[in-house]
Amino acid sequence: MLMRHEDIEKKMGLLIFLIIVTISIGGIVQIVPLFFMHSTTEPVTGLKPYSPLQLAGRDIYVREGCYVCHSQMIRPFRAETERYGHYSLAGEFVYDHPFQWGSKRTGPDLHRVGGRYSDEWHRVHLINPRDVVPESIMPGYPWLENTPVDNSDIQTRMRVLRKLGSPYSDDEIASATGSLEGKTEMDAMIAYLQVLGTAVKTRR
Ligand code: HEC
Repeated sequence: MLMRHEDIEKKMGLLIFLIIVTISIGGIVQIVPLFFMHSTTEPVTGLKPYSPLQLAGRDIYVREGCYVCHSQMIRPFRAETERYGHYSLAGEFVYDHPFQWGSKRTGPDLHRVGGRYSDEWHRVHLINPRDVVPESIMPGYPWLENTPVDNSDIQTRMRVLRKLGSPYSDDEIASATGSLEGKTEMDAMIAYLQVLGTAVKTRR
């Protein structure tokens, strides 16, 4: 039975269904291949899962909402790579759950901030950004300095990440709680910032 266009237009339900089918084809063609491409599913060479301290820092980064002002996604444009270094690769984020790409840049992109400053610079900057960047509008986070890292659930967090693909060994998980003993949230945050974007060698 051949259906004419006119007939389809008269049947609301059918018309809506066919419109959805038509526009999903574009989405499927773009998105589905990404799940099977090596460059988007495999970690880049040298990528390591976050250490317990870095992982704790990542969770504090999320808790404090740093992503509200900072992206972690360098786009492949000259203006970006000149400023930040090599553009971000999908394979650098395979152990990030959830990733911190962000879309709002009140402050600079942080994807390759690892190794750019000393630990001491970060400490001073996080306590009061104006001490190192006088015109900064970033808020200070002085409490990180005297709050001990909560290590009560780090092993659970690592086990969940292992389920999602981060290759933690049993030993690494077992020693995680102890390795956070005596560390402050500031130590964790700095450890996290210093590893960002360092798996890929970049020119600066
Ligand atoms: C209200 C927006 C805002 C928030 C929230 C914010 N920042 Fe910033 N950040 C900025 C701005 C603006 C700058 C640039 C001036 C400066 O260096 O202080 C900056 C700079 C930085 C830099 C230096 C980057 C570079 O390449 O020079 C780091 C590192 C940083 N922020 C980390 C953080 C962390 C970690 C948090 C969360 C604890 C955070 N920021 C929260 C606005 C923000």
